[in-house]
Amino acid sequence: MKIRNVILILLAALAGASGPPVSAAAETSPGPKLALTPPMGWNSWNKFGCNVSEQLIRETADAMVRSGMKSAGYEYVNIDDCWQVSRDHEGTIMADAARFPSGIKALADYVHSKGLKLGLYTDAGRLTCQKRPGSFDHEVQDAKTYAEWGIDYIKIDWCYAEGLDPEVQYAKLRDALAQSGRAIVFSICNWGVKGPWLWGPQTGNLWRTTGDISDHYDRMSVIGFSQNGLEKYAGPGHWNDPDMLEVGNGGMKQDEYLTHMSLWVLLAAPLLAGNDLRTMDAETKEILTNPEVIAIDQDANGVQGHRLWDEGPLEIWAKPLSDGGQAVGLFNRGESELKIGLDFKLLGITGPAKLRDVWQHRDLGTVNDSYQAMVPKHGVVLLRIIKP
Ligand code: GAL
Repeated sequence: MKIRNVILILLAALAGASGPPVSAAAETSPGPKLALTPPMGWNSWNKFGCNVSEQLIRETADAMVRSGMKSAGYEYVNIDDCWQVSRDHEGTIMADAARFPSGIKALADYVHSKGLKLGLYTDAGRLTCQKRPGSFDHEVQDAKTYAEWGIDYIKIDWCYAEGLDPEVQYAKLRDALAQSGRAIVFSICNWGVKGPWLWGPQTGNLWRTTGDISDHYDRMSVIGFSQNGLEKYAGPGHWNDPDMLEVGNGGMKQDEYLTHMSLWVLLAAPLLAGNDLRTMDAETKEILTNPEVIAIDQDANGVQGHRLWDEGPLEIWAKPLSDGGQAVGLFNRGESELKIGLDFKLLGITGPAKLRDVWQHRDLGTVNDSYQAMVPKHGVVLLRIIKP
């Protein structure tokens, strides 16, 4: 998977060099414009796997409100694989009655009553990755069912899809969702197969660019730092998706989670928390709800950041913002603390610039020509820079 991802990303970069990306369905189709900024919410998979239930989803919706996640912008409560068990005699998809005894419609009503939205998961192939019924040959029927239930977001996976062409199959699902009459965010999850960034903009609102993340620094950083070159395919309504967040799941150090969140916001990535919101500690909440950090991700211009410099273990990434400024990440991928120097020429700035350390909530004043910071092992300094 890793080698294939590298090849796919190289191919994407080459394709991009020969012409501009195609325009987004969200920009050309009638109806409500969805995901004009990267979707924000929560998904069950990273923490709970198949252990999903209506109780978990209700408690998570409650916790999203209580913890301040909702006020910070998180909106979608998404159930991943394993909510479904079979189809009835008419082919209608059925939820696990033991885990969802009130049914999905009642759950959607509950989540909506909290001012939040409900997401579901299916698969474009014959079975989901956990061998539940997939949507192949039931595209229109399933989209209609989701619309009737009041679903707002659907993630569609790519297991058991042998012999199918993702570009064709996901377009069928797009059309089925359009026919359903409900505005549903469409998340394509085919791990980068056949360069979804090339056809994704006309098909869905976001598409996974790689295989699965895990709660380890090595995996998270390989995914995050490999996204360079894909920025030309992202924009309002259509986003590259480097997978969901692992912040707060316990497998990374605090500096590593800061790197994870900083990279994801510079990438204008969807922000789908993957931890247990009911028991989140203060450090996790500070990372997930920092308003200045979220503002970088949610910037109205929707420009995905890219790498400006790399040298040994250091990488410098920047994302242009709608106020004319830039968000800049000074990353240290090495095993010991490192002094990183930022020459403003890299950012196209000559002379002085105003700097703010976003994680520290601290103005650094007006600085001339360059800035230096000590960056911890696997850590980051995230800056917001504007020419005065
Ligand atoms: C994978 C997908 C994960 C999760 C899982 C569920 O294919 O990438 O995000 O949805 O399936 O089985």
